[in-house]
Amino acid sequence: MATAPLFEPVQPMRTPDWVPVWRGFFGERLRNTIYGWPEPAFDADIRTRRVLGFTVHIVSQPAAVERVLLGNKANYERPGIARRILSPLVGNGLLSAEGEDWRKQRRIVAPTFAPGAVAAMAPLMDAAAKREVADWPQRDARLDLAQAATRTTMAIIADALFGGDARLCDPAGARHIETLLAAAGQARFMTMLGLQELDPSPGMRRARVSRAWLRKTLSDLVRERGPEGGGDDFFGGLIRALHGQFTPDEAVELAVDNAITFFVAGHETTANALAWTIYCLAAQPALQDEARSEAVAALALPVAERAAAMPLLHQILEESMRLYPPAPRFDREALAGDVLSGVNIAKGDLISIWPWVIHRHRSLWPNPDRFDHTRFAPQAKARQHRFQFIPFGGGPRVCVGARFATVEALLILARWLAARRFSVPPGWRPDPYGSVTLRPRGGIILRAELLA
Ligand code: HEM
Repeated sequence: MATAPLFEPVQPMRTPDWVPVWRGFFGERLRNTIYGWPEPAFDADIRTRRVLGFTVHIVSQPAAVERVLLGNKANYERPGIARRILSPLVGNGLLSAEGEDWRKQRRIVAPTFAPGAVAAMAPLMDAAAKREVADWPQRDARLDLAQAATRTTMAIIADALFGGDARLCDPAGARHIETLLAAAGQARFMTMLGLQELDPSPGMRRARVSRAWLRKTLSDLVRERGPEGGGDDFFGGLIRALHGQFTPDEAVELAVDNAITFFVAGHETTANALAWTIYCLAAQPALQDEARSEAVAALALPVAERAAAMPLLHQILEESMRLYPPAPRFDREALAGDVLSGVNIAKGDLISIWPWVIHRHRSLWPNPDRFDHTRFAPQAKARQHRFQFIPFGGGPRVCVGARFATVEALLILARWLAARRFSVPPGWRPDPYGSVTLRPRGGIILRAELLA
């Protein structure tokens, strides 16, 4: 039997060779961090560039990535510049903290994301997915699945971590977060110049308004709950634990910082993973049918058992995150000299780790730009280097919500697939747009056909 050619999902333009650094500060390259990558980047182990006075090493060899994130982790911190970008929004919460402050906060939140705790949240994840599907028009329709994903993951994070507070499901929140993340790519440029807060561009002005909205909304939540936490949910437990380990002022500040961190990091990335996965399935009808059969069978099981009963859908989700990593880049700063992939690293150098590049690297993946979920079948996966697929990062700072996100995405996809058949409307193509996250600009517009 002839096998069907592998599907090649859309990606932004690439250039045949490296282009001068200054070209990155103009036009689409400034707005979209995954636009205009040079072909040789997808062959290189490491590439060193000078950017506005910083030495930046783009590290793509899995063994070197492992050394940065795990083997020699004490030598690499979140860069000061990344913290300057993040701190006006997320302060000194888990994402931006270092050292003992980070360890204390990580220990406080870790139990919420342990396997048993995530399984206990499966019913509320499934309920939110069901509510979203019930709100779709009861006929064949064109839907924006990226918006549907954002609504659903926002509702889940509000229910799972914040006692279902309605303010966190306000559509204004989604708009503010979109504005903030879009501005972040450009903030990086202005921050490198030390001008972030003075940046007069309309995008940055809008971002400052959005930041104020988020900090005010979540500060109100913290104030209303008081030092006792006001409930037995994640947020209440977090507030109480912070008061137990920090001074009252620090505890209040860190509660707001972490509320924003978990609200934003806890839904935006998963929404993007979902949106890209459903696009990849819509473009491959036979694979979609197979995944649907698996999902329908899983829906007959108790909800806490479903995610484990969908290995095909899990492979499809992983392959979609390989091709469209929801966090396309993260960085570190060297505290002392080191050697990575044979290149000397000096104190203060920046290490730029791009899942976007590593996941499409020619030395790591056959046909890297093609969709092939069998790469994630158990035997094939066992042959991979564990740092060649890093949608959730790696080492001690690996995403604390990785399991939560995976279970959530699988449960949502199961409900979607059981309710509709998705296809790509003629002439429509997605527009992958990288900032802090990898979003489909303009949405994922699919035809969603009612299943009898
Ligand atoms: C598909 C979904 C997700 C992806 C792809 C993702 C990706 C990542 C990555 C790459 C990092 C590490 C960044 C670095 O090392 O610099 C990270 C960290 C983090 N993520 Fe996620 N994430 C996802 C979902 C979630 C969820 C659902 C939550 C919370 C409910 C969450 C909360 C966090 C937090 C708090 C950190 C910082 C951890 C630390 O520094 O200790 N993420 N995430």
